[in-house]
Amino acid sequence: MAEKDNKIYLTTPIYYVNSKPHIGHAYTTLAIDVLTRYYRILGKEVFFLTGTDEHGAKIAEAAQKAGKTPQEFCDEISGLFKTAWQNLNIDYSYFIRTTDKSHEEKVAEFLNVLKSNGYLYEGEYAGKYCVGCEKFVTDKDLVDGKCPDHKCEPQDVAEENWFFKLRQLLPKIKELIESDKLLILPEKAKSEVLGVIKQGLDDVSISRKSVSWGIKLPWEESQTVYVWIDALLNYWTVLQNLGKMEFWPVDLHLMGREILKFHCIMWPAILLAYYGDDAIDQLPKQAFCHGYFTIDGQKMSKTIGNIVDPNDLIKKYGTDATRYLLLTQFPFGGNDGDVSLSRLDEKYNSDLASGLGNLVARVVTLATKLKVQPVRIATQSVAGGSAKLKVKGSRLEQNILEAKNKYNFSLALENLKIDEALGAIWELIGACDKIIDTEKPWELANEKLKTKNEKVIKDLLVVLGEIAEMLKPFMPQTADKILEQIKTNKSEPLFPRLN
Ligand code: MSP
Repeated sequence: MAEKDNKIYLTTPIYYVNSKPHIGHAYTTLAIDVLTRYYRILGKEVFFLTGTDEHGAKIAEAAQKAGKTPQEFCDEISGLFKTAWQNLNIDYSYFIRTTDKSHEEKVAEFLNVLKSNGYLYEGEYAGKYCVGCEKFVTDKDLVDGKCPDHKCEPQDVAEENWFFKLRQLLPKIKELIESDKLLILPEKAKSEVLGVIKQGLDDVSISRKSVSWGIKLPWEESQTVYVWIDALLNYWTVLQNLGKMEFWPVDLHLMGREILKFHCIMWPAILLAYYGDDAIDQLPKQAFCHGYFTIDGQKMSKTIGNIVDPNDLIKKYGTDATRYLLLTQFPFGGNDGDVSLSRLDEKYNSDLASGLGNLVARVVTLATKLKVQPVRIATQSVAGGSAKLKVKGSRLEQNILEAKNKYNFSLALENLKIDEALGAIWELIGACDKIIDTEKPWELANEKLKTKNEKVIKDLLVVLGEIAEMLKPFMPQTADKILEQIKTNKSEPLFPRLN
């Protein structure tokens, strides 16, 4: 990952406010939260940006349906996103709303530059537009004349618009992607984007005449800025407005695959048009696409009524357990996956109640029973590996080493193998459980045994400390609770079993 004086800029998509936050939005935001916390522990200065995308026809229609003005509606739903992120303990640096005046002003400023750089021209657009996707579509995007995602016929649009000379920049973008200067991961996502470029793309309309809920084009007030251009500029307008351009450019942008094209083609294109076409240092360093998930095999949708609100999971499982459950449903960044609601209880019970929670309770209780002095946990590296065990060459040490060899925690996390990084922690948990089962450190029959058992417990406390450090980015409150318990030798259940 590129660094600017120890600074890292991480971004999520900004979410549409046409409906309430769901666990799809939570998934992306949570993953960036984990990375943010990880890099902050390593001493990096991280700017984590998320927010809401509030303009365009889709939002205006949703507001109308709700009997509210667009602004009232946006205020309400945007507030729900903020509350959800608070409940999920998301530690963002800034929450952008595209209806913020400061954003609107900077978008206008940016577009003025594109115009004076000769990248915009007036033209007639005649074609089809899908409001659900907020994009112009062609027949090849449709199935039986309908948008396959929104199951509705697109609108016919014919209007005078301002166009952006995207075609002119495509060879440059293609070359940057092919050479990984604009890194798109995983490989499958890169091929998909290159495939789209190969098929050929037209110049895009960057304004709409028939849509009034948007930012006015500075030189032609009868037109509003196309919502995707407005939205894609947020990563830049925020730093501009906060005077924090030292974080620029974006180091890592994370998203689902359905918006790859916008972030990997259109976004770099408008940046090149603004900064000059050799300004590759202004482009995002990495765009990463994670899998898209279904719920019990079905797409999350209002019609099916299977949209999962993260707040409901938090109510049932708690914040940290919800964070864990969401991130362990399927491998991160690979293929699409499925969230099986019926199996969440089982996973909670096995990994959290019986796994982590039970281990902490066993070790802390034994420490209290044997009056093992509370250990002073030296600040350990989040990467693990610094624990100093009492019993050198012990079985515990062997187990720990084996567990650590299986996954490299830091490497996994830095390569966004988030589930593997969690796997590394659960290997350690397993290693400790094994030791407790074989060493049975509760036997106090004679002095010799007692001394050995005390050492085993001390070592287990050290490893627990290490587990807590590794858990910090994922389950920050749990990590603190574990550290507190091993300091005070007071056991409190972390994850009550669900029946
Ligand atoms: N507003 C645009 C993005 C503009 S960014 C300049 C948008 N918003 S959205 O509300 O539809 O959010 C899409 C993103 O939410 C996905 O790219 C992904 O990050 C996340 N997810 C939404 N549903 C999801 C799943 N079912 N599974 C995984 N991630 C999901 O597109």
